[in-house]
Amino acid sequence: MSNEGSRSFPAGFTWGAATSAYQIEGAWDRDGKGESIWDRYAHTPGRILDGTTGDVACGHYDRWQDDIALMAEMGLTAYRFSFNWPRILPNGRGQINEAGLAFYSDLVDGLLSAGIEPFPTLYHWELPQVLEEEGGWLSRATVDAFEEYTGVVVDRLGDRIRHWATINEPWVAANLGYGMGLHAPGQTGSDLEAGHHLMLAHGRAAKLIRERTHDAEVGIVLNLWPQSPASDSADDALATRLGDGVANRWYLDPLAGRGYPEDVCDYLGTDLEFVHAGDLDDIATPIDFLGINYYSRNTIVSERDRTTGRLGWTVEYPGPKTAMGWAIDPDGLTEILERVHQDYPFTDYRITECGAAFDDVVNASGDVADDDRTAFLAGHVAAAHRAIEAGVPLSSFFVWSLFDNFEWGMGLSKRFGIVHVDFETLTRRVKASGRWYSGVIADNGLITEPQQPSRKVTPNE
Ligand code: FCB
Repeated sequence: MSNEGSRSFPAGFTWGAATSAYQIEGAWDRDGKGESIWDRYAHTPGRILDGTTGDVACGHYDRWQDDIALMAEMGLTAYRFSFNWPRILPNGRGQINEAGLAFYSDLVDGLLSAGIEPFPTLYHWELPQVLEEEGGWLSRATVDAFEEYTGVVVDRLGDRIRHWATINEPWVAANLGYGMGLHAPGQTGSDLEAGHHLMLAHGRAAKLIRERTHDAEVGIVLNLWPQSPASDSADDALATRLGDGVANRWYLDPLAGRGYPEDVCDYLGTDLEFVHAGDLDDIATPIDFLGINYYSRNTIVSERDRTTGRLGWTVEYPGPKTAMGWAIDPDGLTEILERVHQDYPFTDYRITECGAAFDDVVNASGDVADDDRTAFLAGHVAAAHRAIEAGVPLSSFFVWSLFDNFEWGMGLSKRFGIVHVDFETLTRRVKASGRWYSGVIADNGLITEPQQPSRKVTPNE
């Protein structure tokens, strides 16, 4: 990164870190919690790369008070977490598990009294298993159940929560869960319909939150990956346009009231038979913020089927990569923010996840000197600042993740945390990147040139 001097963020900018319920809580069957599709999936032999599960994960369910104290020590101003639906409604609807609701109510109170803003997500993929057995996200009844669940949480916690995210990454939930079978529930071939119901669930929940709260703000969280052609061939350009359509516009367009993009419908050959009258209006319920999870850029390499001539593509990640194999590309963050802001009418953007997995080691002095992660984050914080300078109304940056945790299909093998977790003892250790991030928060930005002699922060600190 070039040294462009001081990058101070707007006053009131939110600096946080993010987690999700299944990835950190553990206690998968405690105190009346119902089974989720991730419990079932991770318990199925062969599904998780390293054979681990989220049964214990970070043990946050028992350690939440210490975890809040740690967040406060680190200076976080906000914490993004998710509610585990079957912890609250074990059967997905109907009977409320008071112990589950109490856990989240205490967590929220604890955060507020530590001066940390709770920034919850209602659905970060923990569908109650009983609902999956009735059709899961392929059934419209799941949308109704999600609305009921939202109502239960909002009625209990709505007095204390100012920002609500409905659904985390519908593309991932639909495509990996119901398209490719790489995430729970491990189904294939039905991603479009599942995705539509997830978007509908978002719209209905957004409406309900607006109706039942006074000044709360509501949004959705999308994983947006900028797409670039691998070459200047016409096919690469076309495939890149379609790649952007499938991954990004498919979700952005209906949120903005434009319906599903026609070029993508034509390409996929769908007549959207699962879209009922009124659905698109519900999905276009106005949102107060758009949450963006940013990790990398997709470089698109087109290919044609030898027999049919049909256009397809593969994705590559040239250049330096993280332990996930994703390209390190901070400019992609500026690019996607500027582009979405230019093409869509949203008025507030929040980076709800940004971070990287690296193969961390605890060194002889018991420290994790994760300079690669610090450099990654410094580059991306600078990229976020460039977007603000270009006029994008960006108001938050949440690092993924606060803790090393259960990384879905990769199990415990990928460490994303700015806090190291020893999965044997559940000991937490703030990594060098976590200490660096505390400095960023204290300075409300990246001070790459010393403002005062004592406040110099460098990516390798
Ligand atoms: C995102 C997920 C999050 C985490 C990161 C690495 O897609 O929202 O839970 O797994 O990727």
